[in-house]
Amino acid sequence: MTIAFHPVRPDFVAEVTGVKIRDTYDPETLEAIRCGMDAYGVLIFRDQPMSAEEQISFAQRLDGTLHTKTSVSVLAANRFGNDALTDISNVNADGELLKSNERLRIGHLSNRLWHTDASFQDPAGRFSMLSAKVIPEVSTDTEYADMCGAYDLLDEQAKESIEGLRAHHSIVYSRHVLGFDFTDEEKEKLPGAAHPLVRTLPRSQRRALYLASHASHIVDWPVAEGRLLLRDLIEHATQPRFVYRHAWTPDDFVIWDNRKTMHRASSFDDTKYRRELRRTTTLDID
Ligand code: OGA
Ligand code: MN
Repeated sequence: MTIAFHPVRPDFVAEVTGVKIRDTYDPETLEAIRCGMDAYGVLIFRDQPMSAEEQISFAQRLDGTLHTKTSVSVLAANRFGNDALTDISNVNADGELLKSNERLRIGHLSNRLWHTDASFQDPAGRFSMLSAKVIPEVSTDTEYADMCGAYDLLDEQAKESIEGLRAHHSIVYSRHVLGFDFTDEEKEKLPGAAHPLVRTLPRSQRRALYLASHASHIVDWPVAEGRLLLRDLIEHATQPRFVYRHAWTPDDFVIWDNRKTMHRASSFDDTKYRRELRRTTTLDID
């Protein structure tokens, strides 16, 4: 088997063939996948059955240390007994569909806002890897936005005006937008984090807008002006020309770079259809 990249767009999203993720140990193939991430930002691997342990171990081989302090871990015990594996599903610990009034369901719903993973933490998320287990017959696609493309196509004046700015990201804010409030005790565990609004990716030297539903304000700016700027930029970055829509098949495995993409889940009747995926996310360190 030889690894091959089949780009969906010249520099955004590629489907990868010739790799069995759970059996990938050799440094050359792992490095080829990292180079693919530099080039495309989102990689799609089809037909990749894997256990929880195999998913965790691959994520560590590819990109180092895993995030374990997810927002969900503040609300409930991990269904898999390992906080390195985030449960992206609409079921509870007993495998039953979450009811519309269940608190845990908000995590599921908030994924429908454009975001990038763990931006409300420092270190934030670097690579996220999602393994699809149960996918319903109705459409439950995930959309990805190209934040390098979006930065490149800002006009020079806009680029200049946002240079050097930092945004504060908070999950307390993004959940509040949907009408969900954490308790004071939970809030203490979720202080948020500030990150540059524009980042330069160390390997490719490409520049990317770093935005998310979690971005609550621009540091040192009045809240209203900052929030308006963030809305304008998110609107710009999520125009159809920057967006790819992934239609899931069970055993799909998708890796994305949170530093140069945003993503969101699409809406479906989650109180009726079961959908189960598992995510590993690496820490943006080194
Ligand atoms: C995620 C996420 C979107 C989806 O796993 O981080 O936002 O469509 N998922 O499930
Ligand atoms: Mn996400």
